[in-house]
Amino acid sequence: MTTPQIKPATGAAYTRIQGVGGYRPSRVIPNAEVLNWIDSSDEWIRTRSGITERRWATAEETVAEMSVQAAGKAIAMAGIAPEQIGGVIVATVSHLKQTPAIATEIAQRLGCGTAPAFDISAACAGFGYGLTLADGLIRGGNAGADGYVVVIGVERLSDLTDIHDRSTAFIFGDGAGAVVVGPSDTPGIGKVVWGSDGSQADVISQTQAWDTAFAKPDAVNGAGEETKWPALRMEGQTVFRWAVWDMARAAQQALDAAGITADQLGAFIPHQANMRIIDAMIKALKLPDSVPVARDIAETGNTSAASIPLAMERMLQSGEAKSGDLALIIGFGAGLVYAAAVVTLP
Ligand SMILES: CC(C)(COP(=O)(O)OP(=O)(O)OC[C@H]1O[C@@H](n2cnc3c(N)ncnc32)[C@H](O)[C@@H]1OP(=O)(O)O)[C@@H](O)C(=O)NCCC(=O)NCCS
Repeated sequence: MTTPQIKPATGAAYTRIQGVGGYRPSRVIPNAEVLNWIDSSDEWIRTRSGITERRWATAEETVAEMSVQAAGKAIAMAGIAPEQIGGVIVATVSHLKQTPAIATEIAQRLGCGTAPAFDISAACAGFGYGLTLADGLIRGGNAGADGYVVVIGVERLSDLTDIHDRSTAFIFGDGAGAVVVGPSDTPGIGKVVWGSDGSQADVISQTQAWDTAFAKPDAVNGAGEETKWPALRMEGQTVFRWAVWDMARAAQQALDAAGITADQLGAFIPHQANMRIIDAMIKALKLPDSVPVARDIAETGNTSAASIPLAMERMLQSGEAKSGDLALIIGFGAGLVYAAAVVTLP
């Protein structure tokens, strides 16, 4: 008897982003407030980072709550029913409960039935990583009967910010951005250019792991030493150089892989890490002045995995970019990790 052949899973030929939504926390933290904690100035923060204010979540604005709000808007824009969603991917580094993944609660609250749901950790490249997974799941026929996947980037980086650290206290913000990816007759997500560099794992990282942050109870000597809440630390200049040189190259490779030239773009939506990095990338890419560039960082700070979908939503809402335009997106951050691709805007 010949070995029977497994029926192959097959899905849509192409995918595209069909809806985007964001959630910005209610609490605005202007630079003036940050100056209560660090020795700096509004002018220094503005000129060095481009940030004038950021949003920090309140206790009620949890990772799940912000995600549900953002994804709900993306689903509404896509014009589909939550039951049609066949996957929920949540990119985050600031969901502080190790298990279970927050994605299952979010999927349930969104009304996605028993759709597969999981978290990924790829820092500021998390949105691009999630988008790539969604594209593969849909084209591979593993995204439910209708082939829709929700990708959410969400962070409460204020929980992991040492407000007395001069090099990070002014940078990070909170928020959520989400997209619905679905089947398409034409290609709407280009080949991803992505990768990692573990040799630079220490460049941006949590100061300590949870198991060392909290002294384990010691039956003999009593509950031990001091407790240190972990925070994000960063070698700013190293990140800056890497972002400007290597990431501009990755962005160009994503354009080449998609067969698109810079002048054909309707938007450039880089990770909102620092306004000077954005400006340097524009120069390296020789981006024409006619291409609108996301500068959401000014009022949002660096929201890691949430930054690209939040900036995408803002550009569409403000009319700076329009549905159907091509956008170059690139995320990069702790790992180090990065992901760049050309996408069609929803
Ligand atoms: C963080 C960052 C803004 C710091 O800017 P920088 O120019 O590299 O700053 P440096 O650490 O070299 O310090 C330069 C000077 O500013 C001072 N400085 C540092 N932090 C300061 C602050 N918050 N306020 C005022 N002065 C500050 C330093 O003491 C130093 O002073 P000196 O020249 O008298 O010695 C910048 O490195 C950066 O944006 N890096 C990329 C960060 C990023 O994007 N991270 C996210 C990636 S996902």
